Amino acid sequence: MGRYDGRVAIVTGGAKGIGRGVCVAFAEEGATVVCADVDEAAGAQIEADAAFLSGSVRFVSADVSEDAVCEGLIVQAVSDHGGLHVLCNNVGIQPTNSYMPAHELPVELWDRIIDVNLKSTFLMCRHAIPVMKDQGGGVIVNTASVQGLQSAPGVSAYAASKGGQLSLTRQLALEYARDNIRVLAVNPGTIDTPLVDEALEALGANTPEAREGMAEVHPVGRIGQPSDIAKVVLFLASDDASFMTGEYVCVDGGVMAKGAWA
Ligand SMILES: NC(=O)c1ccc[n+]([C@@H]2O[C@H](COP(=O)([O-])OP(=O)(O)OC[C@H]3O[C@@H](n4cnc5c(N)ncnc54)[C@H](O)[C@@H]3O)[C@@H](O)[C@H]2O)c1
Repeated sequence: MGRYDGRVAIVTGGAKGIGRGVCVAFAEEGATVVCADVDEAAGAQIEADAAFLSGSVRFVSADVSEDAVCEGLIVQAVSDHGGLHVLCNNVGIQPTNSYMPAHELPVELWDRIIDVNLKSTFLMCRHAIPVMKDQGGGVIVNTASVQGLQSAPGVSAYAASKGGQLSLTRQLALEYARDNIRVLAVNPGTIDTPLVDEALEALGANTPEAREGMAEVHPVGRIGQPSDIAKVVLFLASDDASFMTGEYVCVDGGVMAKGAWA
């Protein structure tokens, strides 16, 4: 028996990186996973890769910054799979052309980052919560970031979106605690994903030396893997964490303990 047999989970931005790790981990433990993502090729790949797991991963092509798309995702998942037990608001973008002082950031880029990273969390929750209330509970786990707590120059919209996710996590936890809906967040440190590859490429720094430098920033001496985050998400979504809500967990190799990491 897997921990998530008979459970239904939706993971946004689930086709690559951390989201992919979360989808696979839930499916390994028996869950039916809906992977919502804009990357159809990566979506087909994760469906194929998950074919022999005890649960399943179903890809849905969806831009979760759109309200109607989020509503459709939830309605379809409930109709196809009979419920919704876990929602992972994992999607996040940090476009490589957005690294600049705040006053130079084009409004369109600000809006896009906030829409994908923060507004999607609100939109998915606003459609998932009524379903969870009706079925007697559920768990929402948001992928925020250590950059929601501390930051570095040049990432105003991204940092604001991640701080906003942490605030929304607390807010929703309070509002729905008596509905048996727990709301939590994970704050990854640097994780080995396409997002980090693209950032290094844009900086002209996708070299072994730069990667070694990133590893050195983390007290444990390495950057994380998607599975490092997935294991914590699965714990938070499980009954083992039933007394946890409105809280975040830094999964960052000790970066936040060190402080002044930026
Ligand atoms: N990788 C890190 O070091 C790191 C650190 C801290 C926080 N995070 C956060 O973790 C989450 C996942 O990051 P990642 O590194 O795996 O990113 P990634 O770029 O590797 O993967 C993100 C996924 O989201 C999808 N996506 C993008 N826009 C979308 C949209 N509008 N609708 C649906 N899907 C969309 C992409 O196609 C991709 O599959 C993000 O919220 C990110 O901010 C990552």
